[in-house]
Formats: sequence, C-alpha cells, structure tokens
Amino acid sequence: MSGPNDNYDPKQVAALSAESLDAMVAAALEAFAVASDPAALKEARLAHAGERAPIALANREIGALPPAARKDAGQRIGAARGRITEALAARQVEVDAAELERALVEETVDVTLPVDLAPQGAIHPITGLIDLMSDVFVAMGWEIAEGPEAEAEWLNFDALNISADHPARGESDTLFVAPADSHVVLRTHTSPVQIRSLLDRPLPVYVVCPGKVYRADEFDATHVPVFHQIEGLVVDKGITMAHLKGTLDHLAKEMFGDIRTRFRPNYFPFTEPSAEYDLECFVCHGASVGNPDAPCKTCRSEGWIEWGGCGVVNPRVLEAAGVDSSVYSGFAFGMGIERTLMFRNNAADMRDMVEGDVRFSRMLKGESR
Ligand code: DAH
Repeated sequence: MSGPNDNYDPKQVAALSAESLDAMVAAALEAFAVASDPAALKEARLAHAGERAPIALANREIGALPPAARKDAGQRIGAARGRITEALAARQVEVDAAELERALVEETVDVTLPVDLAPQGAIHPITGLIDLMSDVFVAMGWEIAEGPEAEAEWLNFDALNISADHPARGESDTLFVAPADSHVVLRTHTSPVQIRSLLDRPLPVYVVCPGKVYRADEFDATHVPVFHQIEGLVVDKGITMAHLKGTLDHLAKEMFGDIRTRFRPNYFPFTEPSAEYDLECFVCHGASVGNPDAPCKTCRSEGWIEWGGCGVVNPRVLEAAGVDSSVYSGFAFGMGIERTLMFRNNAADMRDMVEGDVRFSRMLKGESR
C-alpha cells in the first residue's frame, strides 16, 4: 500500500493500473455471462461487484494517492464499476426472464382439472348385494321381513326345533345377552324371522329376511363374528321341494349366470328333508375332481362349493308357529351374504368387508348394485 506523502502516479499503483481494471471488468463480465440462474448470478455479483470484490478493494486505494492523482483514478474506477454494474443489470434481466420461463413450465397448474372437494362415499358392497338379492325376490312378489338382532332364545332355537342340548346352543358359538336368565341371544342365524313371519302375517307367506347375525367365531380371512345372511321362507298349500329347487336355481342364475347347482342331503332341525345347496366350483368347474395334477384350492378338488342350507319346513316348526301342517307346507333356505360376495366378486378376505375402507366399497360398488 502507498504512503500518503509519496508522489505517485496512479497508474503505478498496481490495483489501479488500466490493465488491472480491464482484467477486473473482463473477469466480472465473464462470470456474469456464465451464471445461468439467480443463485449463480448472486454469487458472481458478490465476487465481482460486492464489498470485497477486487474493484471495491481497488477503490480503497484512491485514498492513498496524492490529491492530484485521485480525480483521474476515481474516474477510471468509476468507469470500470459502471461497466460492471451495467453488465450485471443486463444479465440480471436475462436470468430473471429465464427463471420465470422455467417456473412457468415446471410449475404449471392445470386449472381445468376436476377438483374433488367433497369426495363421495359409496354404498357398502354387503348392503349393495343385500339389495340386489332382495330385488330378485321382490320381483317375484315376495315381501321383505325383519326381526331383531337381540333375539329371544326360544325363537332362535326352540321354535326351530333346536333342542336345549343341541351343540349350536353352546357358549362356544352363541353370544348370550346378560343376565344369563334373560334368555336373550344375539341371533346366530336369520331363521328366527321364519317364526316371526308366520306369527305376524296371514298365510300364505312368501318372505326373505336379510340381516346381521352373530357367532362367537374367529376373526380371519374366512370368518367374522358378525356377518350377514339372507333367509327365505315360503308357506302355502301344496309347496314341495321342487319349488325350493326352482327358486334357488333362479336366484343362482341371477347372481352367477348360467351355473350348475345341486342339492346334497344334510340335516337341519328345522327342515325335513334338508339339503345343502351347492354351486359348481367357479374356479375349476369340476376339472380338479380326481385330477391330482391340477388341484383346486377353492373347492378342495370337490368340484362344488356350498352356498347355503335349505329344506322343506319341518311340520314341528309350522306347529310351533300355529300353522296347521296338515293343510300347509313350506320351504326355507338361508345363505351367507359375505360368502356370496366372495363368490361373485372374488373378494378373498372377509376382513376387507368390515374394515370400512371406502376404496373397497368403491371398487365393488358397480358390481353389486
Ligand atoms: N340357519 C342355517 C345356518 O345358519 C341356514 C339354514 C339352513 C337356513 C336350512 C334355512 C334352512 O332356512 O332351511 O346355518
């Protein structure tokens, strides 16, 4: 640094030489030119036009010059600074314009896209399927019957000819409503509505009863402790098992299209004779039967899957409801709605049906209604 009393020519102060100033300007212009975004240009500005930039440091040298030399040096520095500032301003305009262009492209918002401010819920697939199955019967002139979920033990069991020592009454299956001597249970099936319908309505009776049932069951992919059944009951003069078969085949066709069905002898206390109603396996269509090379998990290579139980109403049940079994006869059936949904929609896990995720409902909505 120069001392105040020396007789300097400003051109001899290295930082103030024309070459130095030109080099500073050139370096600044070059740095501005290559800075292509606002952050890079800011860096270049601090380096070449900031307080610690070479040109600013050179400016401080002026004070060290003899007074006569200051004017000339000041003018030259000023000119150099002017070029730098001008180049910076010009480049700033370019970089800002490019930045705006980029943001407009990258951050484009399509304001014409539809907005779902209040997403709609969906009918639960079980509800949808109940409506669909009920409609099949309403279309044939049947009525919809209802009964309570907390049901008299007598209606749930005794009136249906299920004796006190029947295994289904055990505490392992049935949920009893406290106190124990209330003789109220959470209905284990929709069959008590058979009795209620016979007690409530004039004959003949043609009813279906969809509803919730409860069992002290596991909670896994194929069992839930609260599920749904649909019960059917016809009591009229001259009703036979053939009417039952025709009715169930019509329902099966409405639910599954052309599908083979069969009755398989079984026992229920409230029907005699009784049968399980089977559907042809909708996965292997019977191809797995006797074919160990192509086993079927769905039907366990039996070719058939059970859909529900049914039979001719046991005269004891008619008598328990005050119906003259020498004049009237009837048929009844009951099947699980969850199982039906599984068959119709390939819904493999029953837990999805109770978890209430609206995506599950939306997925199956169109299919069940
Ligand atoms: N209630 C029976 C059950 O829960 C199903 C059933 C079988 C209903 C035969 C009926 C019937 O009406 O006739 O397993």
